[in-house]
Amino acid sequence: MIKVVILGSGNVGTHLFKAFKNNSKFEIKQWYSRNLKDISQYSDFVKITDQLDQLEFADMYVLAVNDDSIHDLSTQLSFTNRFVCHTSGSKPIDVIDLKNRSGVFYPLQTFSKESEIDFSKIPICIESSNDEDMITLKNVSKALGCSYHEIDSNQREKLHLAAVFVNNFTNHMYTIAKEITDKSKIDFNILKPLISETVNKIYKLDPKVAQTGPAIRGDNKTINKHLLVLKSKKHKELYELITYLINNLEHEEL
Ligand SMILES: NC(=O)c1ccc[n+]([C@@H]2O[C@H](COP(=O)([O-])OP(=O)(O)OC[C@H]3O[C@@H](n4cnc5c(N)ncnc54)[C@H](OP(=O)(O)O)[C@@H]3O)[C@@H](O)[C@H]2O)c1
Repeated sequence: MIKVVILGSGNVGTHLFKAFKNNSKFEIKQWYSRNLKDISQYSDFVKITDQLDQLEFADMYVLAVNDDSIHDLSTQLSFTNRFVCHTSGSKPIDVIDLKNRSGVFYPLQTFSKESEIDFSKIPICIESSNDEDMITLKNVSKALGCSYHEIDSNQREKLHLAAVFVNNFTNHMYTIAKEITDKSKIDFNILKPLISETVNKIYKLDPKVAQTGPAIRGDNKTINKHLLVLKSKKHKELYELITYLINNLEHEEL
């Protein structure tokens, strides 16, 4: 059994808890949260604590806390030479205090506490400061049924950037689209088959090839009509910029 301690009770910490708890290959030694009330509902299933100096021995300590708190929290750990990893896409491995062995266990997925997720479908990006801990990271990923990918801090930073485009920015586009449909009293749900097909196409076609719409067709009449309808200056700028980029993809340097 792989012994783990989870630190953090946010989106990722909670999903990790559920994934480890439902899997006989893991023993969750403890779940730490600085606000114990956030995890008190789980106290029948796991030992909970808000005391860093009372953390028990584990094969792996997972710091599922805000990016900017990882370093501080790692310095506050009272033990040394144990395996401590974070779950961030954008922070390098060396953000973890050197008194412990460091690693990264970055699940490349979007997590919200309210939304259930099949953890086994998540690709895990792993990195460690030594070979033995890499074996632990692989074993943890395998035990969860996940695929794993050895990705260093430099590559992970780029991957996280790409993830921001496909997930965060795309989701913001949905937010703008919903504002537009809400204002015209149209049910946003009518767009969902289009959203699904846009995503499905990515499994079959290169995104460049899959591009459709007025921008790629150079349909200036429609583009100008859309620009007239948009009220917000920022949304007009966004529309113009993306239209420009779709048309000039070859010339723009990433
Ligand atoms: N959400 C995602 O989709 C996602 C996906 C992949 C990776 N990640 C990464 O996973 C990590 C956690 O993200 P999240 O979405 O779970 O964040 P979150 O929901 O905001 O939760 C963060 C947790 O960290 C705790 N925390 C913050 N500062 C702390 C400190 N100094 N000491 C102790 N605990 C502290 C918070 O406690 P309080 O509630 O008391 O503030 C909270 O329990 C981040 O590194 C993030 O980049 C997130």
